[in-house]
Amino acid sequence: MSEKIKIVTIIGARPQIIKAAALSRAIKNNFSDQIQEIIVHTGQHYDENMSAVFFKELGIPQPDYNLHVGSASHGVQTARMIEGVEKILLDEKPDYLVLYGDTNSTLAGAVAASKILVPIVHIEAGLRSYNKSMPEEINRILCDHSAALLFSPTETGFNNLVKEGFDPDRRAPFSADNPGIYHCGDVMFDNSLHFADLAKINSLVLKDLNIENERFVLCTIHRNNNTDEPTRLQQIFEALLEIVKRSDHYLVLPLHPRTAKLLMTNLTEAVYQQLMHHERIKLIPPVSFLDMIALEMHATLIITDSGGVQKEAYFFQKPCIIMRPETEWKEIVELGAAAIADASKERILQAWENFLANPPIDYPQIFGDGHAASFICEEMLKNKM
Ligand code: UD1
Ligand code: UDP
Repeated sequence: MSEKIKIVTIIGARPQIIKAAALSRAIKNNFSDQIQEIIVHTGQHYDENMSAVFFKELGIPQPDYNLHVGSASHGVQTARMIEGVEKILLDEKPDYLVLYGDTNSTLAGAVAASKILVPIVHIEAGLRSYNKSMPEEINRILCDHSAALLFSPTETGFNNLVKEGFDPDRRAPFSADNPGIYHCGDVMFDNSLHFADLAKINSLVLKDLNIENERFVLCTIHRNNNTDEPTRLQQIFEALLEIVKRSDHYLVLPLHPRTAKLLMTNLTEAVYQQLMHHERIKLIPPVSFLDMIALEMHATLIITDSGGVQKEAYFFQKPCIIMRPETEWKEIVELGAAAIADASKERILQAWENFLANPPIDYPQIFGDGHAASFICEEMLKNKM
C-alpha cells in the first residue's frame, strides 16, 4: 500500500480515553507508516482526573480537536457533539471514524459519520444488556447498526450481532450495507497487560491511602439508575457500611463526580455521616488508571456498576459484585467470577459472604490474547486494500 489510511478517533468519556490508549499504542509501535490517527475529544468528561490525567499517564497523543461540549441533557450534549464531529469529518475526510463503546460521544460520532458516508469502525461491538432503559443500550445498538467494521470483545457480543441479522460470512470490501463482524478480544485486556507492571512500579496509591498492609474492598458507582434513585443508592451504601462493620476490611471508593454530587442529597443523614466519618472508609476523588489498577490488583473483592471495572476485576482475578440488574459481560457471571446483586442490600451482602467463603478459582482467558488493537489495525488496512 502506498498511502497511509487516515482514521478519526472519537473519545469523550473516561473509559474511551483509556481504551483509545491501546489503539494509539499499536499504531505508534506497529503501523505508524500505514495509519494516521486524528484524535477528537468531545469534552464529555473534562475534569482533570476524568480526562487529562490519562493522556499524560498512558502516553496517548494529545487530541487534535476538542469540542468542549461539557455536561448537559442527553439531547443537548449529543446534538452539540454531532455538529462538531460532522465539521471535522468534512474537513479531514478520513477513511474511517473509530468509535468506542456506548456513550453519547459514540452515538454522536455514529450519527455524524453515517449521514456523510464515512465508514464507521465500532470497537466493543455487539454488547447488549437487553435493557433499553439504559441510555448506553440505545447508543450501542444505533452505533452497531450504522457501522462497517464491528469488533466484538467477546463471543457473546459476536453472537448477539449474528442474532440481530449481521452475517458472519460476508466478505470485504465492508461498508454500512455490507458490514464485517469480528470477534477479536478486548482492547482493555491489551491495556491491563501492558500497564499492570507500570502500576506496580509507579503507583503510590496504596501508600498514600495508608492501606499497604490492609485488606480492602474496592468500589465504584456511577450508573444513573443507582446515583439518581435515592432508595437504590441508600441500599448500596447500607450494604457497604455493613461489609465494613462485619469484617476488618477497608472500603476504598473513588467517587465519580456524578456520584459525589448526589451523595448528600440522596442518602439519609445517618448513612451519609457514617460514611464521612468511618476510619476504614476512604472516599476519594477519581484516581488515575495506574492507581486504579494498583487498587484492583490488591483488593480482596470489587463491587461496582462500571462496565470496565467488572472486566478488570476478572483480568486481575478478583471476585466481583455487580450492582446492576444485568450485565453485558455475562461470561464472567456464568464462570462464577462475578455475581449480579443489583442495588439490593441483601443480595450484595449475600454475594460478599459467598465470595469470602468460596472465592472463584478459575479465570479462563476469554478476552483475547492481548493483541486486539493490532488485529483491528490490520483489518482496517486489509479492508482498504
Ligand atoms: C458517561 C456515559 C456512561 C459511562 C460513563 C463513564 C453516557 C450516556 N454515559 O456517564 O456510559 O459509563 O460516562 O464514566 O454517555 N461530571 C463532572 N465532571 C466531568 C464529567 C462529568 O462533574 O468531567 C458530572 C456532571 O455533573 C455530569 C455528570 O457527571 O452531568 C454525568 O456526566 P455524563 O458524561 O453526562 O455521564 P456519566 O454518568 O459520566
Ligand atoms: N477508572 C479509573 N479511575 C477511577 C475509576 C475508574 O481510571 O477512579 C477506570 C477503570 O479502571 C476502567 C474505566 O475507568 O478502566 C472504567 O470507566 P467507568 O467506570 O467510568 O465507565 P464504564 O466502564 O462503566 O463505561
